[in-house]
Amino acid sequence: MAISRRGFLRTLGGTGLVLAAGTVGLARCDQMPESAIAPWDGPGSDVTDIREWTLSYALLAPNPHNIQPWLADLRTPGEIMLYVDPERLLPETDPYGRQILIGHGTFLELLDLAARERGYRTEIALFPEGAAPSDAAADSITGAPVARIALIEDPSVQRSPLFGAIFERRSCKEPYDMARPLSAPHEAALKTAHIDPEIAFTTVRTGRQTETLMALTRDAITMEMETPRLLRESLELGRIGADQIAANPDGIDLHGPMFWWLNTLGLMTIEKAATPGTLAYQGGMDYALGWANATPSFGWIATEGNARAAQVQAGRAYVRINLAATLEGVSMHPVSQLLQEYEEMTELQARFLEETATPPSQTVQMLFRLGYAEAPPRSPRRPLDALLRA
Ligand SMILES: Cc1cc2nc3c(=O)[nH]c(=O)nc-3n(C[C@H](O)[C@H](O)[C@H](O)COP(=O)(O)O)c2cc1C
Repeated sequence: MAISRRGFLRTLGGTGLVLAAGTVGLARCDQMPESAIAPWDGPGSDVTDIREWTLSYALLAPNPHNIQPWLADLRTPGEIMLYVDPERLLPETDPYGRQILIGHGTFLELLDLAARERGYRTEIALFPEGAAPSDAAADSITGAPVARIALIEDPSVQRSPLFGAIFERRSCKEPYDMARPLSAPHEAALKTAHIDPEIAFTTVRTGRQTETLMALTRDAITMEMETPRLLRESLELGRIGADQIAANPDGIDLHGPMFWWLNTLGLMTIEKAATPGTLAYQGGMDYALGWANATPSFGWIATEGNARAAQVQAGRAYVRINLAATLEGVSMHPVSQLLQEYEEMTELQARFLEETATPPSQTVQMLFRLGYAEAPPRSPRRPLDALLRA
């Protein structure tokens, strides 16, 4: 579960602390540190290596819990070897590393769009040294490369309008306007951006199925938050306040006057947020259920089987839809709880698969909210240097 600053602020607005923060002139305190969002300015003019240039866009990709699980090895000229960072796994909520690899797919798609922009073609060999089975534990996807990428100058390569949405793309974790389901023209635009015939992309714009999916999502979020080891994995990625965000520009960023006050008063700690009955725990729960209950439309993508390469391809497909949504002014937000493979989710997941009439041969890789809301601010990113393997 991820918690956005604005949503939490709204949840806790009634406590008077927001007012207090404003009254003592702290309304602008504890802002997002510039260094944490500097990667959103794109590569500097000093970046001359095309590999570094494309990687500077790729690292803006959506990825689970903003853990940024990428490692790039540039030691062979003209080539990028992409790995999973073994320090950046989510063993509780993503026990097989499926979502981590989706996050490699989103990364590769942005890299490809950036390469095209500069007149380069990518040749991407997935798992050039072989892939771990999809039912092997997450640490099995570390070690061997996920992809070998060659960048080849090619004047015939086609640029894509999706490139222009990379800086504005967001995961919008806010309540959506319930009076505005996804419009039919916008649905068509998202479907046009989806070009992989191997991946099924389904949308539900409105009606009974939306209600059922909202209820299942709500139950899944509640279950995850009420299961201490699952909640704790998310909370440990919490970065509370500008100093922590600057030190670790990843994970779930919580900053601004409200969090500054809560933190200063000792009310907003990982321990407090993990303890039912505290303001921090209840704020997190109310916030997540707030947006879960304000979802006019849903989308999901499914692959045939669940091979490692299919997981990566699902990520590529997902971010294309996310970029197309950005161009159209549509908000998107992954809600992964129902798809996660731990034991406690088995029953809810079975109901979800039945509701969506997913054939047994398919794996739903991403489930996401669709609708309309104000775009949230940029989430932190580590600088490119942090991703380069020495
Ligand atoms: C595979 C995958 C699963 C995700 N699951 C969730 C989720 O369950 N809940 C959520 O709030 N965000 C989810 N996200 C979105 C990430 O939290 C988000 O991409 C990350 O925080 C960076 O923010 P940005 O997309 O706005 O750049 C997921 C993203 C990916 C790629």
